[in-house]
Amino acid sequence: MFIAANWKMNLDKKSINFFVENLQHYKFSENLQLCIFPPTIYIDFLSKLLENIPISIGGQNCHHQSFGAYTGEVSATSLKELGCDYVILGHSERRIYNKDTNENIKKCSQFAIKSDLKPIICVGENFNQRNNGKAIDFIEKQITDCLPEEFNELIIAYEPIWSIGTGKIPHKTEIREMHENIKEIVFSKSKKNVKVLYGGSVNEQNILEILSVNNVDGILVGGASLKIKDFLAIYDSAVKYLQKKYNF
Ligand code: 13P
Repeated sequence: MFIAANWKMNLDKKSINFFVENLQHYKFSENLQLCIFPPTIYIDFLSKLLENIPISIGGQNCHHQSFGAYTGEVSATSLKELGCDYVILGHSERRIYNKDTNENIKKCSQFAIKSDLKPIICVGENFNQRNNGKAIDFIEKQITDCLPEEFNELIIAYEPIWSIGTGKIPHKTEIREMHENIKEIVFSKSKKNVKVLYGGSVNEQNILEILSVNNVDGILVGGASLKIKDFLAIYDSAVKYLQKKYNF
């Protein structure tokens, strides 16, 4: 089970310090992987604070070249050098505001893999596509176009755009159907299994409902990962859920 915290363009040094202070003596479960995706500028800062804490770090995006005349960009090799293990690619906010395309996301994912980072490729339909019954076709195209040529370990995050930051989540059957479809699509194209995370308005109240859905391998949390209290409430619920399910 994987819990990923996407901080987006939030928090500063003071609030990051406060966040990590509260993790210092926390008892973490071995059955749950945690990763925080801070703003790029704070990766090094957070990485040093997390030195003795079992939480990985990742980038929120990367470029498809290791260096060059690309002002304002961040390279996968730099992320790796700063201690990142993962990188989020194709988040809907980047697709909308930065015009990231499937073609570009594919290139970035290939370069991330070459740089020894594990990509988390985000896909998700908008409200009209969901309402018009086009969600599955749309996601199939996103995956087909973004899928790296070769990979060993890949994570897909299903984040319906209409659910991000709105407090609305899809029905359990819609999440199950979409996660099953994503796994089938990737397997049919690559003969590889992928983990699929759910993202969009995950919080302390709905975490158990979401985790109980078949084929949900973890979550990608935005807003509720910014406050330590909310983040730990989600984490604790996930640990309890796993303890009950697998009896450990
Ligand atoms: P919220 O949890 O704030 O809806 O954000 C989800 C998200 O975009 C994570 O990448």
